[in-house]
Amino acid sequence: MRQKMIAGNWKMNTTLPEAEKLAKELVNKMAEYKGDAKIVIAPPFTHLTKLKTIIDHTTISLGAQNLAWEASGAYTGEISASMLSSVGTEYVIIGHSERRQFFNESNVTLSHKTTLALHNNLKPIFCIGENLSQRESDQHRETVHQQLEKTVFELSEAQFQQLIIAYEPVWAIGTGKVATPEQAQEMHAYIRKLIKEHYTEKVADETTILYGGSCKPGNASDLFKQPDVDGGLIGGASLKADDFFAIINA
Ligand code: PGA
Repeated sequence: MRQKMIAGNWKMNTTLPEAEKLAKELVNKMAEYKGDAKIVIAPPFTHLTKLKTIIDHTTISLGAQNLAWEASGAYTGEISASMLSSVGTEYVIIGHSERRQFFNESNVTLSHKTTLALHNNLKPIFCIGENLSQRESDQHRETVHQQLEKTVFELSEAQFQQLIIAYEPVWAIGTGKVATPEQAQEMHAYIRKLIKEHYTEKVADETTILYGGSCKPGNASDLFKQPDVDGGLIGGASLKADDFFAIINA
């Protein structure tokens, strides 16, 4: 059985007091949670240490939104994989479309980041997805294929099994324009087929594939009902404890 997961990507939002409040609200709500999905929150770097103390001994895990492509040294402003693990981070988002777009992160950089994360016992949530023009020109399948081929498909089978894949169509992120359940299912099934062809059927069956992009309480359950959608990577709706908890329950 593959792990279901709901991960909240807080992006560049919340001051530390706001983040503490949000985390505490979520901890309280999670006391009523009966499901078996893994819950992850990925706050800004500055809040990781403090939030770890709030979610410690709960079922919520800590994630980071990014990491450096080098292990250590003269890289002013960067945060390394070992720093993240040293404060209790378990997951790290890699290759988010905002990082690819605004910080020019290439496949080479993303491969370095993934390897460093794995060497430091961080589980990558590796993001892929097409933009609007690729979707409109029927290039969405080829786009995600290339994104996998040039990065995580270079990993060994044992390494790949540590990964979570997040399919996030760029045209759906923060736009309020969600993929239909059918579109999500089609892409998730396609990604699983690629994993099967590259590794094995067992690896494909066991890989958690999240959907991301304008997932809200009102559309989450239809998306999560799809057989190949194992949960969500949630942006905007993860900033309100009520909404995030409603998505978790979906
Ligand atoms: P959104 O973001 O839910 O606000 O669309 C999703 C993401 O970027 O991971």
